[in-house]
Amino acid sequence: MTATIIDGKTIAKEVRSELKIEVAKLKEKGLIPGLAVVLVGNHPASESYVKGKIRASEEVGINSRLIRRESSISERELLELIETLNADPAIHGILVQLPLPDHINPDKVIATISPAKDVDGFTPVSVGNMVIGQEALLPCTPHGIMHLLQRSGVQIAGKHAVVVGRSNIVGKPISLLLQRADATVTMCHSRTADLASHTKQADILIAAVGRPEMLTAEHVKPGAVVIDVGVNRHEGKLVGDVKFDEVKEIASAITPVPGGVGPMTIAMLMRNTVEAAKRIGK
Ligand code: GUN
Repeated sequence: MTATIIDGKTIAKEVRSELKIEVAKLKEKGLIPGLAVVLVGNHPASESYVKGKIRASEEVGINSRLIRRESSISERELLELIETLNADPAIHGILVQLPLPDHINPDKVIATISPAKDVDGFTPVSVGNMVIGQEALLPCTPHGIMHLLQRSGVQIAGKHAVVVGRSNIVGKPISLLLQRADATVTMCHSRTADLASHTKQADILIAAVGRPEMLTAEHVKPGAVVIDVGVNRHEGKLVGDVKFDEVKEIASAITPVPGGVGPMTIAMLMRNTVEAAKRIGK
């Protein structure tokens, strides 16, 4: 069997097109969604991610504001900047690009973002609301994975999903969202003993460990749906956590790296910004 390739690039484009129409309607009512992207320093990967976020905002019609600060900025100054953005009525979404310089505590910075404007879904209030099933802006990567699965026609209810990775950004929230969609979820991580014995049970396998091509054919059940969240630079090229060439021969569907989950993350950031603007209103 050769797997169907789940084309995140195309699905993300669909999401952006839908949002563009929605934003145009909001503009007619005088509401222009505004996103502030705060970039501290000039970390090369962050520069590239931020560029993608600004470009997507322009395409969808979101007013984006890139706010750059030197890496020498103090924690206090950064917290004050966020307070100013919290109070700015033209801004509906605030994103502080991570990582931050070592002298700044990222938890403190994230906790200062107003939960109503928390388009990354990283604040303790957003996370808590998500856990108890209350209205919250969902973190973009897991939210994007759920869209990929749903829009590709993958049945989730009653299926066994195995998540490899337990990060706050991906592993923990995707486990919760899959469980909420009625999957039975097993969580594994870098210290799981006999990992393959667990992953081989998966109807839906989510790879989010951050280790290049760690999951091979021997980890995958024939016919499984495989979602690769990994983005690793390995021997000069970009690879996921899944050995794609091998696994695509036995999976029923698989996301590529790049062009799978990545574009969906940005599309969901756009969606969260529109959602935040609608909730906050004019
Ligand atoms: N750095 C890497 N990924 C992310 C993300 O999703 N959000 C933010 N704010 N920073 C990141």
